[in-house]
Amino acid sequence: MAILITNIKELLQIRESGMAKVSGREMAELPLLQNAWLLLNGNLIEDFGTMDSCPNIPDAQVIDATGKNVLPAWCDSHTHIVYAGNRVQEFVDRINGLSYEEIANRGGGILNSAKKLNETDENEIYDQSRLRLEEVMQQGTGAVEIKSGYGLTVDGELKMLRVIKRLKEAYPIAIKATFLGAHAFPTAYKEDHSGYIDLIINEMLPKIAEEKLADYIDAFLETGYFSVEETERIMEAGKKYGLQAKIHVNQFTAINGIAACVKHDALSVDHLEIVTDEDIEALKGSDTMPVALPTCSFFISIPYTPARKMLDAGLPLALATDFNPGTTPSGNMNLVVATACIKMKMTPKEAINAATINGAYAMGLSDSHGSITKGKRANLIITKPLASYYQLPYAFGSNLIDSVIIEGKVV
Ligand code: NIG
Ligand code: FE
Repeated sequence: MAILITNIKELLQIRESGMAKVSGREMAELPLLQNAWLLLNGNLIEDFGTMDSCPNIPDAQVIDATGKNVLPAWCDSHTHIVYAGNRVQEFVDRINGLSYEEIANRGGGILNSAKKLNETDENEIYDQSRLRLEEVMQQGTGAVEIKSGYGLTVDGELKMLRVIKRLKEAYPIAIKATFLGAHAFPTAYKEDHSGYIDLIINEMLPKIAEEKLADYIDAFLETGYFSVEETERIMEAGKKYGLQAKIHVNQFTAINGIAACVKHDALSVDHLEIVTDEDIEALKGSDTMPVALPTCSFFISIPYTPARKMLDAGLPLALATDFNPGTTPSGNMNLVVATACIKMKMTPKEAINAATINGAYAMGLSDSHGSITKGKRANLIITKPLASYYQLPYAFGSNLIDSVIIEGKVV
């Protein structure tokens, strides 16, 4: 059934097909049409134009968008939506003065979530996770990447990836699965790093590949977690199974990890709260998308990714939530866009580019998602009546979404 959206105040993020990402100064432009119509056919964008050329399609469902804006649904390229329980106690501990690192060193942090995950049965994890997925869809997310990484055992990692697979099958939203066995060293392997990496490479990866459970591979490349060399082993092993890398790197320290990721053709490097000139040089001219996670910085009080410096150097940038129980218990991309404008000094146009087309690129979906383009998926946000789409980040706590369309259906 066709849907014709009419009288759109501003139709945002119109791009030619084949445009995979935007970089540097191009990010300051957000092509749009005023007083527009948009025609959806099934799950695809069929056509669009200005109201003076609005077609008359007798059997189409018409949505009148007078005063409203339409933009592509958010593309959230970095989440950990599948987890068990919560880490509210660590939140309170941080309020009382402990740092993320101190909490992790006491056995909290990722290992805390791994314990809960391994104690919880698959159906229960599925039920907890699907509620979060439904919530982010309501908040305008139309494509999402979800990582494993709270199992840290063969069974736990497989259990998480099977939950992601079930979510893929049950929901219309595009989901990419990333294997993050290298999220932290389990206590038993604290003094035997190569033993745990052997387990990842020789036990986990073959099973995951056999069941086709992952699209990408990730590791937490960070002081006290996985070293550059250890991460390189993981990336090389992933490549043998056709899994391109998307790596957590430069969250707390810069240890030349970004150059290693670029060398191994990583699709994205994520976090980047600490970025050196050498890191920027390594990214220049590469196909690796830098991804910032500003609501993680907000929640655990760490620096924000230096977006201005990176964009001025001509780099692209994507924005994602990092939705997870420890550092970002929120999957709200609207808040991510607002935080990027308020704290990282990105303009609303830059932030919207980063949260749509560049987010799609960072999960290998830019052929089908992230812009208003004929033939791309009918994944849209229809806003409430707005004076300007700049209100989206400006009124940062308000819900300005009227409705969300995913794969041609209102969710
Ligand atoms: O992206 N930095 C590593 N991983 C997650 C947080 C993990 C956790 O604390 O549960 C992140 O911030
Ligand atoms: Fe993360």
